[in-house]
Amino acid sequence: MINPLAQQLNEQILANNPHVFEMLSPLGKRLFFPKGILAQSAEAKAKAFRFNATIGIALEKGEAMHLACIHEWVNALGPDDLFPYAPAAGKQALRNKWREKQFAESPRLRNKKIGRPIATNALTHGLTLVGDLFVEEGDPILLPDKFWGNYRLIYEVRKKARIVTYPFYNSAGGFNLQGFSETVDRQAAGAKKLLVLLNFPNNPTGYSITPPEAEGICRILIKAAQEGARIVVVLDEAYFGLFYADDLFRESLFGLLVNQHERLLTVKLDGATKEEFVWGFRVGFLTFGLGPAGDLEAVYEALEKKTMGAIRGSISNSPHLSQTLVLKALESPDFRNQQAEKFRILEGRARQVAKVLENPKFADAWTVYPFNAGYFMCLAIKGVDGEALRKHLLETYGVGLIAAGGRDVRIAFSCIEEENVEELFELIYRGVMDLQAHATSGKP
Ligand SMILES: Cc1ncc(COP(=O)(O)O)c(C=O)c1O
Repeated sequence: MINPLAQQLNEQILANNPHVFEMLSPLGKRLFFPKGILAQSAEAKAKAFRFNATIGIALEKGEAMHLACIHEWVNALGPDDLFPYAPAAGKQALRNKWREKQFAESPRLRNKKIGRPIATNALTHGLTLVGDLFVEEGDPILLPDKFWGNYRLIYEVRKKARIVTYPFYNSAGGFNLQGFSETVDRQAAGAKKLLVLLNFPNNPTGYSITPPEAEGICRILIKAAQEGARIVVVLDEAYFGLFYADDLFRESLFGLLVNQHERLLTVKLDGATKEEFVWGFRVGFLTFGLGPAGDLEAVYEALEKKTMGAIRGSISNSPHLSQTLVLKALESPDFRNQQAEKFRILEGRARQVAKVLENPKFADAWTVYPFNAGYFMCLAIKGVDGEALRKHLLETYGVGLIAAGGRDVRIAFSCIEEENVEELFELIYRGVMDLQAHATSGKP
């Protein structure tokens, strides 16, 4: 049984863009935002000027009731910015500020019509909401062959999607546009809808795209939509802004993809997690970008309500305290300078890694995957399994890195001070040499 409110949202979408309706999963079609306590409370907040007895929080002297032993740690903030529930879609002022930030950082977005950012419990939750709304059993989801492992849990394990990969790099070490294009075309044929997940700057490789690559990706997706495919493009921009090479595309792909074709729906996932160095805060955003069809505002509103229903029906709402803290940061005149200072530290580390890796002796131990952004870089180890190396480095040299499948290892230079970079790679080199020697001597 479909709820009449869900039916109404479905009709709102169907009347304006039937393709978006067809993109919705069965759960996405069933979702709505109930006119229950929250809706009545929102109404009361606006109108009940004498007493508002609608919401399940407690009040005292006109502000949120609270314990001093909690408040003393965040004393500069008023109780009402900390203790009450935040709205399902997030704190309004924060949503507005994040939207301003999105427009400021991606000039190509400025004349586009996009949805309002919906606050999520950081990016993982945004990815899960995309799963709830759009992913059903057997749906193909396109990823490069180097991707963040949690996608598997979110889409394959929980939603039974079918992950289809293409090789990330081309032979020149750039993004593999040709492989991407062929895979999009192959998967689009016959699929009811296609999900394409793009993650730049990328985890695990630390690679981000150039302007021609960005344009190439968008051309391929728009062409596939023109030829009849319904495509949900998911942009995981967790590491947005951490670009270290001069020739990179420094905007969001969102600006190139939205309002382009009615069969193309783009969902931008971004957040404070990595950009603002507040990993444990759990503050992210989900923003819809539609193609030109029907009344865009009506479809944005219906999709926002469905997303709010998915939030309400799972985590109810995201933490208020951390939303307030991120809002305070965005409002601070020092925010950009302080962020730039941390950016320069990470950039210095990335450049130092590149410099250290120029040492010709390392060619015996590994090849370096191209990297230019984000927190990480990867090595393809020669003649040694990544997991064996990981264990050996840990046990013998006290060095921890991630075995990223086969012979690949991932190194988070975000965690290594610039002056320690050289020593780190010397130790990894030593570890590889030890294991290569074992392999040739035949000793276990
Ligand atoms: C590519 C990518 N997306 C999403 C996430 C999750 O971010 P969050 O902590 O905001 O959920 C990570 C975290 O490691 C990531 O690397």
